[in-house]
Amino acid sequence: MSHGSTPHPLTAGQAGPLAGTIRVPGDKSISHRALMFGALAVGRTTVTGLLESEDVLATANAMRAVGATIEKQADGSYTIDGIGLGSLLEPESVIDFGNAGTGVRLTMGILGTHDIAATFVGDASLSKRPMGRVFDPLRQMGTNVIARSGDRLPASIRGARQPLPITYRVPVPSAQVKSAVLLAGLNAPGETTVIEPIATRDHTEKMLAGFGAEISVTLNEAGERVIRLKGQPELKPQDLEVPGDPSSAAFPIVAALIVPGSDVTVENILLNEHRTGLITTLIEMGADIEILNERSAGGERVGDIHVRHSKLKGITVPPNRAPSMIDEYPVLAVAAAFAEGDTHMPGVEELRVKESDRLAAVARGLEANGIPCIEAEDALTVKGGANAIGGGTVVTHLDHRIAMSFLVLGLASGKPVTVDDGAVIATSFPTFTSLFAELGATISGSESEAA
Ligand code: S3P
Repeated sequence: MSHGSTPHPLTAGQAGPLAGTIRVPGDKSISHRALMFGALAVGRTTVTGLLESEDVLATANAMRAVGATIEKQADGSYTIDGIGLGSLLEPESVIDFGNAGTGVRLTMGILGTHDIAATFVGDASLSKRPMGRVFDPLRQMGTNVIARSGDRLPASIRGARQPLPITYRVPVPSAQVKSAVLLAGLNAPGETTVIEPIATRDHTEKMLAGFGAEISVTLNEAGERVIRLKGQPELKPQDLEVPGDPSSAAFPIVAALIVPGSDVTVENILLNEHRTGLITTLIEMGADIEILNERSAGGERVGDIHVRHSKLKGITVPPNRAPSMIDEYPVLAVAAAFAEGDTHMPGVEELRVKESDRLAAVARGLEANGIPCIEAEDALTVKGGANAIGGGTVVTHLDHRIAMSFLVLGLASGKPVTVDDGAVIATSFPTFTSLFAELGATISGSESEAA
């Protein structure tokens, strides 16, 4: 599960026009939650389109470790035979979440109000990420936590015997923190309330309602989202279909925008309003993007995204848009390198605590490829329109989105771009290089795809 022992460098060079219609794998956020909520329901949940990436498979193993039976069926769907909220078993060994922040933080929420003990580890990237943001509310609910340096993995928790429902104002815009508190609230008596000053992706709220929980979302006088969850519901198994991940679709979308002559359609993409910030931003930059065949599937807006090569111009991205495109800033920085003028991205301090310090990793990657940029503590400005870009080697720091973003850069830059480790792409998008090959791009060293 952990990367780093055998890095697989990958190189992308200038591509001819990208053309074709593709589907990217299922949404990572929804896939994690489908496995978790399936495990908490009593009976059989069926999931089609589950993302089969290392992160999601780590969550599947975690749910097996607490008693769920999860199997892949001959037709490619997954079945989850849930053990039921309140009945989870104590895992027999340490749970290894690899690179998966969503997996570990949400699972700590679930287990934090079950009367069992568990120990969590992760790879070198996950072990650097702050966990205090989840431990703080869990402690208020009665969970005992012991963690390296107070808020890092490895960490052990002893779930609350008598969990307390709390009212919690999320101090940073984070769907993971919000979700961890709500999932802990599932097994607490009474009402757990989460106040979210800045809205983040709402998959937990929507999917919990779909599984039969009593959950409401209102806005208070200050315009903050107030989410109220009634504890100890009986969750009912569901049949779920996971739409394509907009955060994965971002790579072929940006590639099509910057490779001259390209015309690409990415089908069946989740268009949840809390996930479409990149599309909005690219359209403001002048991108030729159309949403086709818009429909509703499983309570979510889904559509096909048609993109053509476009002349882009730099803009300032409104900081309040950050949560709806938080994972897309690295690839936006690549699009910005091809825009005319500066693209300014303020209010993005959360990027420093992702799979890597993404502000620093993106800035160093741009510089290595001759693209001027200004890195501030909480902002990045990319200076577009530089000549003779490319030719650099980018350090990925075990960050899948850094690896994919800079390979996209290589497809349109003057000289090829190398990333020091492409194996990390398997975290979220195992078919990345083969889908790009379908569009006509060659990313070499692709033996690492199976890694
Ligand atoms: C996610 C929330 C976001 C995002 C991550 C997935 C989720 O993290 O970056 O890739 O599924 O809830 P934060 O909550 O830390 O912003």
